[in-house]
Amino acid sequence: MDHFQYRGDELWAEDVPVADIAERFGTPCYLYSRATLERHWHAFDRAFHGHPHLICFAVKANSNLAVLDVLARLGSGFDIVSIGELERVLAAGGDPGRVIFSGVGKRADEMRRALEVGIRGFNVESEAELQRLDRVAQELGVVAPVSLRVNPDVDARTHPYIATGLKENKFGIDIAVAEAVYRRAAERPNLRVDGIDCHIGSQLTDLAPFIDALHRVLELAHRLEAVGIPIAHLDLGGGLGIRYVDEHPPEPADYAAQIGRHLADLPYEILLEPGRAIAGNAGLLLTRVEYLKPTAHKHFAILDAAMNDLLRPALYQAKQQIVPVRRRPDGEATLYDLVGPVCETGDFLGRERALALAPGDLLAVRGSGAYGFVMSSNYNSRPRAAEVMVDGEQVHLVRRRETIADLFAGESLLP
Ligand code: LLP
Repeated sequence: MDHFQYRGDELWAEDVPVADIAERFGTPCYLYSRATLERHWHAFDRAFHGHPHLICFAVKANSNLAVLDVLARLGSGFDIVSIGELERVLAAGGDPGRVIFSGVGKRADEMRRALEVGIRGFNVESEAELQRLDRVAQELGVVAPVSLRVNPDVDARTHPYIATGLKENKFGIDIAVAEAVYRRAAERPNLRVDGIDCHIGSQLTDLAPFIDALHRVLELAHRLEAVGIPIAHLDLGGGLGIRYVDEHPPEPADYAAQIGRHLADLPYEILLEPGRAIAGNAGLLLTRVEYLKPTAHKHFAILDAAMNDLLRPALYQAKQQIVPVRRRPDGEATLYDLVGPVCETGDFLGRERALALAPGDLLAVRGSGAYGFVMSSNYNSRPRAAEVMVDGEQVHLVRRRETIADLFAGESLLP
């Protein structure tokens, strides 16, 4: 459930008409709902009630400071993959003691900063990274808490670009050799082994792959304990899918219940790294129809938002719902390809969508709160969109639209 609903024929964001926001801030514009973010975070947190757990929002999904601020105030943890994400979490008031650092390519300076601010732990993805972390921790005279991200070799049955848990993927350490790597990690003086991590992919709409992975991780935890390497937490990553169009993903409560069943009364703290399931349906991309262009083969609606604003349709052929901000109940629907102004044939937000449209109409691309703005670019020298957060009847501009001057502010002519 989200807080973008029609009242009559008019789309509202919480207690504000979406059209008012477009008038005030222009388009294209990302629009987030605070109540929806909170609702989704609580759904995870409540689902694990009674079992030690920490929900670490995957910052890569939406790193706007206001979004992080909303979650930090709830006591959220954060899953980061770069120093930039760490600084955002700190700037938003997030607790470094609840930050987990994931990613295959952590640099020494990133490790140093994370150790200095005292993050909760590192998800280490290779033996070379273990060596580097041990050295950096030694230079600082501290002990780094580590989990190994294991690659359990399960098929997440999702788009191949967002599947990460197969042995041919670059992620994690092959679970078949993980025990030996754990033994070596445990011998390093400046590392303290405290967990096992895995993340098998994103937009999973079925629980079976998660449970397969959990079995493999539990089996490893038992083996490690038998050789004197106790495990305090299991980090099961993110990946729970959302409904974009007609998918039926499990609810966080179903997911938690299944995990609970398989954990029985094992004491492991559970860490999760959901991104999309918290932020995805908490955001819209607002766009206006510039032109209608009928051709001999198709009807195009040319929008003021493009692939540089929302890359998912072009990159993954992702299908997201596109709805009118003001419905035209008497209008006749036509099948449109909804395309942007960028000079690429792949520049579309939706194809063959039945809509009754006129130039100037506002549309909302739903499910844009995760992997939306964060993946946007300045391609075709297009300034990046504004970001706005609705909170009840209040509306906050949380990132101003880029200006043309911003576009080349860091560039210079030759001397
Ligand atoms: N943890 C790790 C280690 C990850 O790599 C990811 C996502 C997450 C957590 C969060 O996954 P989520 O709960 O959001 O599924 N740009 C793509 C998605 C890429 C996901 C990358 N990793 C998209 O737009 O579909």
